[in-house]
Amino acid sequence: MRRVPLFDLSSIHEGLHDPFLDACSTVIRSGNFILGRAVEAFERAMTQLLGCKFTLGVSSGSDALLLALMALDVRRGDEILCPSFTFFATASCVVRLGATPVWVDVRAEDFGIDVEDAEKKVSSRTKAIISVHLFGQCCDCQAVQGFAQRHKLWIVEDVAQAQGAQYDQRQAGSWGTIGAFSFFPTKNLGGFGDGGLVATNDIKLAEKVRCLRVHGAAQRYEHVYLGGNFRMDSLQAALLSVKLPHVNDYIQQRRRNAQFYQQQLGPLEPFITLPQELPHRYHTWNQYTIRVHNNQRNALQSFLEEYGIESTVYYPKTLDLQACMQGVSTDKGIAPHGAHALANEVLSLPIFPGLTSEQLEYTCVAIRKFFTKQ
Ligand SMILES: Cc1ncc(COP(=O)(O)O)c(C=O)c1O
Repeated sequence: MRRVPLFDLSSIHEGLHDPFLDACSTVIRSGNFILGRAVEAFERAMTQLLGCKFTLGVSSGSDALLLALMALDVRRGDEILCPSFTFFATASCVVRLGATPVWVDVRAEDFGIDVEDAEKKVSSRTKAIISVHLFGQCCDCQAVQGFAQRHKLWIVEDVAQAQGAQYDQRQAGSWGTIGAFSFFPTKNLGGFGDGGLVATNDIKLAEKVRCLRVHGAAQRYEHVYLGGNFRMDSLQAALLSVKLPHVNDYIQQRRRNAQFYQQQLGPLEPFITLPQELPHRYHTWNQYTIRVHNNQRNALQSFLEEYGIESTVYYPKTLDLQACMQGVSTDKGIAPHGAHALANEVLSLPIFPGLTSEQLEYTCVAIRKFFTKQ
């Protein structure tokens, strides 16, 4: 039996083995392991790549989101509009600051926040909207921007899954007030452990995040804010800097894999709905997530497993239904039904860079076999 893993970067990392070791040696010899030159160099490269004014390397994507909200002074009594279909970290940061996530439905076309639903849920207490670019494609940035301007809200972009994605040729993470990136190993720029980044064009926010990430200290032992340890490691930054020049190539590989799926699985459209790259957008395909109709999702997943093909469900349970969110969040009496439906239908297939054409072909043959029973 062949094996198709959901994710495996070993072939990509093998080719960069020597530069990785060189980068580690430089850091080890420097004796500086937290922030410092390696992080500054990585931040400069990221600032240039994103076309924004400031970036700050931090400890994880979850911490980047938390820092973004802390910098915006989000606190008890504030409401934050959040999509209900996303990773937990998008909204847990809101609750950790004592504020209230307000669950907004998502659109099936791009899995992004539904601004029409947000219009029904915005109030005088709403401070910000968190726009998640889920699975590697930007949400409807134009609609989110118009909505935020009309209601005078901050936009926090959750770019964890979409580094390199574009909307109208502008990089994800440069549209909003502040953007949060993740370098969790499966992300478009996957690191070697945890890491994240905050991006903004606002110098005051940037300076506040800089301070918050070192326990809120403006200078040593002068704590202006109640910050925390949100620092990026030097080794992490040095290794990420080696991979950064290749990130577009990784995205191109993901795009080629997606194109293959589109061609091969297109005829199955009555049984499944394929994800689409929408107009004005550049999709990075961090995930290739199909929707399986007629309650066949779990059966398809088990069938693929028998063929040695890994797949996964991002996300089986929406955030509004999570136990720890009860009593601390609200859907304002309008349940996010679209998100609930997606949670029952989605299935993410292997799409990582380095996936071979044989593995892709094998996966498509198995999926066709499941539906056509041949
Ligand atoms: C949409 C989204 N937001 C936030 C995060 C959190 O990032 P990290 O794992 O780096 O803390 C993730 C990571 O899985 C994510 O997918």
